[in-house]
Formats: sequence, structure tokens, C-alpha cells
Amino acid sequence: MSAFLITGANGEIGQALIRHLHDGAPEKPIITLDLKPPVEAIAPLVTIALTGDVTDPDVCSEAAHAHKVDTIFHLAALLSTRCEQDPELCHHVNVDGTLNMLRLARSLGTAHGRVTFVFPSSIAVYGLPVGHATSAPIREDEHLAPTTMYGINKLYCEHLGRYYARFYHQEANSSVDFRALRFPGIISAQTLPTGGTTDYASEMIHAAVQGKPYATFVQEETTLPFMMMPDAVRALLMLAQAPADRLTRTAYNVNGFSISAAQIAALVARHFPASQVSFAPNPVRQRIVDSWPNELDDSRAQTDWDWSPAFDVESAFADYLIPGICAHYGVET
Ligand code: SER
Repeated sequence: MSAFLITGANGEIGQALIRHLHDGAPEKPIITLDLKPPVEAIAPLVTIALTGDVTDPDVCSEAAHAHKVDTIFHLAALLSTRCEQDPELCHHVNVDGTLNMLRLARSLGTAHGRVTFVFPSSIAVYGLPVGHATSAPIREDEHLAPTTMYGINKLYCEHLGRYYARFYHQEANSSVDFRALRFPGIISAQTLPTGGTTDYASEMIHAAVQGKPYATFVQEETTLPFMMMPDAVRALLMLAQAPADRLTRTAYNVNGFSISAAQIAALVARHFPASQVSFAPNPVRQRIVDSWPNELDDSRAQTDWDWSPAFDVESAFADYLIPGICAHYGVET
């Protein structure tokens, strides 16, 4: 019997992914790694919960080998705003943590066969020139000049994964099958992000349902691509399961829809007329979002593994966010 390993399990993506993995294959063991024990929402779904540092070489090797882990979702990372506060810590967690997990994947591959290594990358790998005009959707090979430590780490780790997949693929019995997704901002109805720069979208909506005022830390016209959490989880699973011979690249853009901060505020006001959203841009965070693309071109993911998001902007609010968020906070719709 093989098993899943999920690092950063308590994070937003981790919690949502673990629920789906458990629903899809209840009999397959789920090993998690996080600095803290699993939160209540996922604790009953986890077979082995490891607590520790993702950069520690011994942190999960024994359990991963004992259960013959064949799929790693390496989600543990510090996000972009947090990384600008402590870039070297960010580099340590994001880069050394990924290297550590790639080494583990290699040793699992040698011992038990192919390991699929799924890595969430980000729009932060792109760095558009200051003052860029609204651009055409950005393709994977354009504007790869990240301005944040987070973006630099993600881009480098994509290459590290590509290296491990290519180099060690040639060893007998060993194979690290590395696959990366470049996510836009992700919004969940159940959880809030910490330390990211796309967090304003989630924070605005979660504040409104609770009747709290919210000051958005970017300008009204700031436009970024976003995706709903169920689509993000679906993309991770689709890429993990895609036949290797259909894949033409290591890292794929995936997109939901592009929306400005003012448009999010207007949709929030439509659904919660008493919402109190104001705009108080933070210069550091504004500079970060200004370097990111307004829109992603995900046509390669569409062609290679049939990707398409389930939610557009209207259905995202009407069918997912508003009902989900109201249920989460016990508020009537
Ligand atoms: N959501 C991330 C952040 O804001 C970007 O991938 O840091």
C-alpha cells in the first residue's frame, strides 16, 4: 500500500486538499507534516501526523519509507508579504525545505519506485516592469524576473525540481516525477491566508460576512488573477494524475478569472449591503502586486491535461463563496 505525504498540511491549500484526498481514496494513508498538530478540520482524516520543520532531514523519512509514499504535495512555504519581512528565513524555509523534500523523494524513488512530487508555484515568479500597462495574458516563459524573495524562491525551486526529475530519472529504479502549478491568488470560503499579498481579496469577503469594516491594502484598480479553492485543489489533483507522456513542461499556469479590488468590493457590497470596505494602500504590498501579471495564459494546461476552471466570477460568488462563507460563520444568506 502506498501513501500521500502533504507538507504544510495546516495551510489553506493543505486543509482543502486533504479533505479531497480522503474523499477520493479513503483507504490510502495520509501522512502530514506541519509545525503544529493538524487542525480539527483535518485531524480525523490524517493517518500519521508529523510535527516538525520541513528543513529537518530526519523529520519524515522514516514514516514516508515505512508507508511507501508515492505522492508528495509539498505545500509548506512562507508567502510573499511575510518573506519581504524576513527574506533569509523565507529562503531557508522555501528553498531548503523544498530541497529536503526532493532528497526524500529521490530516496523513496530509489527504494520503492516512482514518486510524483507536486509543487505549488505562483504568479509571483513573474516580474513585470514598473508601470506596466494592463497586458495580454502572461505565458509561462515571459517576464520571469521576480521582484520578491518568495517569487525568486518559487522560480528557483521549479528549476530544482526539474533538475531532480531529469537527472535522477536516469538512475536505475529511481524516479522523481516533478510537476508544478503557477497559481493565481486563491480564495477559500472556509479559511484565511496568512502572510500573502493576494490576501486582501479573502480578507475583504470574510470581514464583510462578519460585519467587520475592512481597509484594503492595495489600490482600487489593482487587478490580479484569482481562483476559488475547489478549483485550486482540482488543478493539483488533475496535474498529479495527468499521464506523463502528455506533459510538455515542468510548470503550468492555471487561471480562474481576473478582477480588480474595486470589483471585489462591489460584489461584496451586492451580497452584504452593510459591508464597510475602504482602501488604504500599503506601499510595500502595492509594489509587490504591481509587479504581478493582471492575467495568466493557461492554454498549455488546457491543452496538455484538459484544465479549465469550474468557476467564473459570477458563479464563484453566487455558488461557492457566499453560501460557503455564510455556512462557515453561521450567517443566513
Ligand atoms: N498568494 C500568494 C501570495 O500572495 C501568491 O502566490 O504571496
